[in-house]
Amino acid sequence: MKKYKIAVLPGDGIGIDVTNATMKVLDTVGFSDMVEYTWGDIGWEFWKTEGNPLPDRTIELLKNSNCCLFSAITSKPKEEAQKELALELHEKGLVYSSPIVKLRQLFDLYINLRPCKAYPGNPLNFRDDLDLVVFRENTEGLYVGIEFHPVPEDVMNCLVENHPKAKRFAEADLNDVAISTRIFTRKGVQRILKASMEYAKKFDYPTVTVVEKPNVIRETSGLMIREARKLIQNYEGKELWETNIDAMCMWLVKNPQNYGVLVSSNMFGDIISDLCAQLVGGLGFACSGNIGENFAVFEPSHGSAPKYVGQNKVNPIAQILSAKMMLDWLGEKEMSKKVEDAVAAVIAEGKVRTYDMGGSSTTTEMADAICEKIKGM
Ligand code: NAI
Ligand code: MG
Repeated sequence: MKKYKIAVLPGDGIGIDVTNATMKVLDTVGFSDMVEYTWGDIGWEFWKTEGNPLPDRTIELLKNSNCCLFSAITSKPKEEAQKELALELHEKGLVYSSPIVKLRQLFDLYINLRPCKAYPGNPLNFRDDLDLVVFRENTEGLYVGIEFHPVPEDVMNCLVENHPKAKRFAEADLNDVAISTRIFTRKGVQRILKASMEYAKKFDYPTVTVVEKPNVIRETSGLMIREARKLIQNYEGKELWETNIDAMCMWLVKNPQNYGVLVSSNMFGDIISDLCAQLVGGLGFACSGNIGENFAVFEPSHGSAPKYVGQNKVNPIAQILSAKMMLDWLGEKEMSKKVEDAVAAVIAEGKVRTYDMGGSSTTTEMADAICEKIKGM
């Protein structure tokens, strides 16, 4: 019996190239010897042919795995999705929805963890001394998809009856109004805040910065800030910093070295995590984990980059560092350290660089260089 069962979902486009590169690294570090990998189906092909980008068999596979290494999928706007659907599925009323959002909700993967660390020698680094870690709430907020257009009369009436500020919309043509909700729960904010503070404690970050906008969005952002102030009391020696999302974007460009752990809701967390990722090299380096109580899905932040499909050209480091996060989550610290040290060494050496780093090395060459470093450890 192998120690772990891991679902591998390469998805679409460059997802396949970077997954192949990552599997080489996992083989070299010795991890694959302990694992039964099962490759699963997800993405555009399955939307087109089955009308479901996340087939039930894939959900079953995940339920029977310790965790999942995912890469990237292609999504397209509504009309295009409809057009590409197999003819025999057209009349079935199928509507495309993002499989990764579904996975996060289905497995209650409430933490979106995005470490953004600068590895010295990367020509794309904003500075070499950055070590930012973003905790983005992954299951609530503005991205839950509770939206209305046109707005049903009941919904508008309810708002008008219950909120004085809604009165000015009472006469609007409901076809011309759209509403997207931003729902936070106390449990939801508490658990993401707690995860961020535990991380600061475990890895010795002096500050936790909660990024919201409570002066304007008083109830949702307000709930988050109030809970943060209470929770931080349990973490002796940790400072809670509070910044507004707009100012935070400015500070992150001005003096990102001052920050460590950042925590935010779904949408604001999405924004700052892309900003932080760019400070340390961009999409080719941006790794992430979607983490719940008992299950996790690790994936690079980038998409399927259709223009580079089949060219063996893109940078596999984002996917390799996502696999490194998986090793951490499983408790395989020694292997995780080897993978990270090998990535850092290849970057520092600067001989093998993919196109995004200004070089001409291939995806495979980058993976091979990382494997060589591991073999030398
Ligand atoms: P993208 O992330 O796929 O690519 C944008 C650009 O970033 C690429 O053209 C390339 O220049 C660069 N890039 C991305 N990954 C790179 C890597 N590993 N190394 C070097 N350069 C890299 O985003 P785009 O073009 O907006 O979306 C393409 C498709 O991917 C769409 O269908 C979109 O819906 C999907 N997507 C999927 C995601 C996921 O699976 N979680 C996330 C983001 C987009
Ligand atoms: Mg994003």
